[in-house]
Order: sequence, then structure tokens, then C-alpha cells
Amino acid sequence: MKSLIHNPTTIVTVNTFGKNFKKGKELSDIGCIQDHSVVMEDDTIKDIIPNHSTNKYQFEKIIDVSDKIVLPGLVECHTHTAFAGSRANEFRQRLAGIGYEEIAKRGGGINTTVEAVLASSFEELVNIIKPRIDNFISEGITTLEIKSGYGLNFENERKLLHVINFLNEIYPIDIVPTFLGAHTFPKEFKGNRKGYIDEIINSMIPHFANQKLAEFCDGFCEATSFSAEEIDSIFTAANRNGLKLKLHTEQFNTIGGLDVALKHNAVSVDHLEVIKKDDVIKLSKSETVAVLLPGVSFFLDYQYAPARKLIGQNAIVALATDYNPGSSHISSISLIMSLAALKMKMTIEETISAVTINAAKALCREKSVGSIEIGKKADFSIFDTKDYSDIIYSIGQNLNCMTIKDGKIIFQN
Ligand code: NIG
Ligand code: FE
Repeated sequence: MKSLIHNPTTIVTVNTFGKNFKKGKELSDIGCIQDHSVVMEDDTIKDIIPNHSTNKYQFEKIIDVSDKIVLPGLVECHTHTAFAGSRANEFRQRLAGIGYEEIAKRGGGINTTVEAVLASSFEELVNIIKPRIDNFISEGITTLEIKSGYGLNFENERKLLHVINFLNEIYPIDIVPTFLGAHTFPKEFKGNRKGYIDEIINSMIPHFANQKLAEFCDGFCEATSFSAEEIDSIFTAANRNGLKLKLHTEQFNTIGGLDVALKHNAVSVDHLEVIKKDDVIKLSKSETVAVLLPGVSFFLDYQYAPARKLIGQNAIVALATDYNPGSSHISSISLIMSLAALKMKMTIEETISAVTINAAKALCREKSVGSIEIGKKADFSIFDTKDYSDIIYSIGQNLNCMTIKDGKIIFQN
């Protein structure tokens, strides 16, 4: 069945000419086309044709998007959407001057959310998370990564991964499950780090990989969480079990996380607020994606990752919300794009590449999504404006008016 996305003001293709990611100057080239329409055949992009030649095909459905902008379906490549409870109390403490790391040292932070997840059933978690996914879809997101990491024992990490996989079954968008057992040490293992790491390596990773509950294994390499050596052993096990790798690293301290991630060919390294100059060069020589999370810097009132340096050195830069209850209670990808522009000095075009093709690469989905190229999935976000700058310029406003996934309209406003 063929259908047509007809007569947009501009199609922002984010064309990569088959390369499927963008580095350096390429991020600025977002392949805008005017006076064209997009032909979909079932769930696939079949053609991009001039408006005057739409009679080339017969269409069962024509979606009129006059005066609107078409982008690839947005890809959200780093979230902790699977949480329960609230950390508004800690937010209040931070407003009163107590730091995020200090709150974690006092036993709050991630472990507060772990308690709320342990107290929630599978069904309760599903019901808590559903409206969050609806919200992502309303922003134009068609591929969404969700991490576990608030269970921190076999049973509860499994529960979270089951929830994430179940949500992937019932929602039309692609939800990518990431195992984040190495988020922090659970209270009962505070004096026995090796005991928890053994649990991760010997029980969780083999089981979750074998049951295909997770596609990625992530960790938090930080002074208050896991050391580089500990991540190294976890990544070795994850690799052996066929999981792909991601790492939260260089957020507050440089403790060797980046080297470990590069040694294991991690798909992405995320955060990088304190990345050193030499490491920018090292990272830029690899195909590991630099996932920047300006919402965290904003939410914690902290320094921003050096996006200009990374792009200048030809790193593959992506952007994400890091939506979570503690360090980025922000689920708006368009706000993240605005922050990236204002605070990290990324251009509007660069932010678009960073939430489409490069975010797709951070999830190993770059061959099927992230740009409007023939043969890729018919995933689109349609914005109610004639100028794509407005997506970033209209701060805090959601201009997405239609989300199309696999050729079907799944949200319309
Ligand atoms: O990406 N860095 C670790 N994890 C999250 C924060 C999680 C939390 O505070 O609940 C992050 O910033
Ligand atoms: Fe995170």
C-alpha cells in the first residue's frame, strides 16, 4: 500500500548519502528539499518526488502537510524513563544549596528511586511509564531507548527489563532496552562491591542477554559509583554475552571511563561534561558516539560538555534528554535542542542531526532510521511551522503536530 506525505514547506532529510552518521561539518548539512513529497510503501520510504509528479504513483492515502516541516522521526537515545516515585524533595534540597553528589553520598539519589521501584509491581510500573511514552511520541519520537538501573538486584532489574520489553510490545514506536545494573551500588552491597559486581557478571548479564531482555549494557563510571576497573570487568562479561555497550562517563570526574569504553568499542559514551582535551581527540578518532546531555547541566546548574570542541575534532555528536528523576527531570527533546544551541553553541542544523541520524547511530539503528532516505523506515515527525528554526527557537513549546511510525499516523494534534 502506497501513501503520500504531500506538499510540506520543507523536507529536512538529514541525508547522509548512505554513510548513516554525521561528523564535524557534516552535522550542518541537513539536506533540505522544497516542493517535494515523500512516498511511503507500507512501513518504508519508497521515493521522494517533486510535487508536480505525484501522479507517478497511485496512493491509497494522502496526508496533507502544507505549510508544515517534515523531519525524520526523532530518536531519543538516552533515558531512564523506567522509574517510580518522585525526587522533588531532593530537588528542594538542591535548591537550598546541597549538591547532587552530596545527596547521593548521604544515601539519597539513585537509591531513593530504587526503593520506589522495589515497592512497585510490574503493572504499577507499566501504568506509571505509559504517559511518559505518550509524551515522547507527542514530541515526534519514534525510537526511544529506556534503561533499567533502578532495580539493582536480579529480580528487580529483571522486572524493569520485562516492563520495558512489554512496553515495546504494546507501543507502535521502537523501544530499545538497556541493562544498567552498574548504575550505583545497592545499599546492601555498600561494603561488598565485589559481591554486587559478581551478581552483575555471573547472574544478571548472562540471564538478561540469553533471554534477550536487553540489547545494550550500560554503566556509570564515576567517583560515587563504579571505577574504570569495575566497568572493565562488567564490559568484558557483557561483550562475551553479546550485549552492546554504552557508558555514562566523565560527568563529574575523569577516572578512566573513556579509555575503558573505547577499549571495548562502546557504541556510545554519554555525558562528557568534564572530558579532557586529549580525550576529545581520542574519542573523535573512534566511531563511538558522543551523547551529550545538556538537560543534566541545566537541571544541576553545572558545566556543559564541550560540544564545539567535539564537533570541531570530528566526533559523532548526538543529543538526548537523559530523562530521569534526579539529574534531568526533563522529557522534552525540543528543550534539549534549545539548550544545546544556547548553552553549547551548537547550530540549529547540528542539533537536528544530533537528535536524528547520530542518535540513531548511538542505538545501532542508523541503517534503518534517523534520516529520510529511500529504503529506510517511514518514520517522521511533522512540525507545525514553515521554518524549522522555530523548533529550537520556540523554547519550551512542542511544535510537533504529527508523528508517523512505520508509515502510520500514531499521533496527531
Ligand atoms: O544519567 N548518571 C547516572 N544516572 C543518571 C541519574 C540518575 C538519577 O539521579 O536517578 C544520569 O545522570
Ligand atoms: Fe543517564
